Amino acid sequence: MKDKDLPYGTEREKLVIRGGAPLNGVLTAQGAKNAALPIMAASLLLKGKRLTIDRVPDLHDIHTMADLLSHLGVKVEFRDHRMTLDVPEEIGWETPPSLVRKMRASSLVLGPLIARCGRAVLPLPGGCAIGSRPIDFHIRGLSKMGTNFELVQGAFHGRSSGLKPARIYFDFPSVGATENLMMAASLVEGETILENAAREPEVVNLAHALRAMGVFIEGEGSGTIRIKGARELGDARVSVIPDRIEASTYLLAGVITKGKVTVRDVVPEHIDSLCSKLEEAGVEIEVRDDAVTVYPSQYRSVSLKTLPYPGFPTDLQPQMMATMCLANGTSVIHESVFESRFLHVSEFKRMGARIDLQGNTAIVAGVNKLFGAEVHATDLRAGAALVLMGLAAEDETVVCDLEHIWRGYEGIVEKLRALGGKVIVTKED
Ligand code: EPZ
Repeated sequence: MKDKDLPYGTEREKLVIRGGAPLNGVLTAQGAKNAALPIMAASLLLKGKRLTIDRVPDLHDIHTMADLLSHLGVKVEFRDHRMTLDVPEEIGWETPPSLVRKMRASSLVLGPLIARCGRAVLPLPGGCAIGSRPIDFHIRGLSKMGTNFELVQGAFHGRSSGLKPARIYFDFPSVGATENLMMAASLVEGETILENAAREPEVVNLAHALRAMGVFIEGEGSGTIRIKGARELGDARVSVIPDRIEASTYLLAGVITKGKVTVRDVVPEHIDSLCSKLEEAGVEIEVRDDAVTVYPSQYRSVSLKTLPYPGFPTDLQPQMMATMCLANGTSVIHESVFESRFLHVSEFKRMGARIDLQGNTAIVAGVNKLFGAEVHATDLRAGAALVLMGLAAEDETVVCDLEHIWRGYEGIVEKLRALGGKVIVTKED
């Protein structure tokens, strides 16, 4: 799929927001970007078979992964949130630097390629605004399963004469490393055990997809995952879970503007940590089977530490910090997952926020109001947080570098407008 297919958005666009009014209404969560990406990569494990994925969000990152898989020989069709991936008998194993640089999640093809082809070439994924983001846990796990890696011209060249089962312990419950090793073990007969594995719902969703393809997996969602692979996997069809971070972002848009916002088609337990923190802050919140509603509330400051799931998600830290900028009281926010995920703080301060950084801790003193400004998104979630700030500020805010936002928020302009948000997209002249 070429750029002409991209649903929207280029880096030259700006989001102009006239804030100060409460958001009110009901919206539906998109499919989870961070579940769809690994499941798409898992298609590489198939040989002459088809993987069908429902509820795939229409996002730049999804198109980037589709382009990467197409480059390797997979036939990708994507229409109305349904994706079919037809994988030929023979596929490539060299990933193009241009695509890998665009998206760190490209590293998720490493495990499947080595399992399927016995080799892979992956340019080192760049660091980004939230830290160096190495893939040493991925490399160490695959090496333990029998892969030899060489770093040649800034790319990992991995080769294996046949992966073997292993017991792998992760120093940190890395989402990507857990997913890569689950996929690598899916073509290996014998039992591979992952210890201190990531428990994120997106990892569980991937496990469901692999099971549908014929892999024996148990323990997903716990810290220990056991995988017994098979030599050949079969056609499968799987649905992507709701995007808990996107849903939470819109709930916080309701909270920060003191409106009534309902997000439907969510899995409430996936956003337990957010709901618990909002209740602690005094926000009136209603949780039903597959919908969550926030009501207009004055709210207090809360303190939190980002942690691997089920702890408070790092991907919600910028949006929660934005919300706490208008809380009554002082919040203490500690970022423990990434080494530097506070680049948005300087942009928040342009809008009147009062934040003091002490290493990986931000002290946020609530203020009575925020002021519009021209601000720049530094990463996907920081961009979303700046939109929340703009919706709450009393005048006009211009958010630049929108390509970050297009990566993760399908139809964000239409969704905010449907809630009464005054937002327009302008093209830089
Ligand atoms: C996934 O990234 C998500 N991306 C990220 O979401 C999310 O922030 C992150 O998990 C944590 O929840 C996708 O799922 C596509 P990690 P991932 O491996 O897998 C260190 C978004 O906004 N680490 O769990 O890359 C790493 O540097 C994105 O949608 C190593 O040191 O995250 C980080 O400090 C942003 N060595 C920590 O572990 C490794 O080999 C967590 O990283 C791997 C990771």
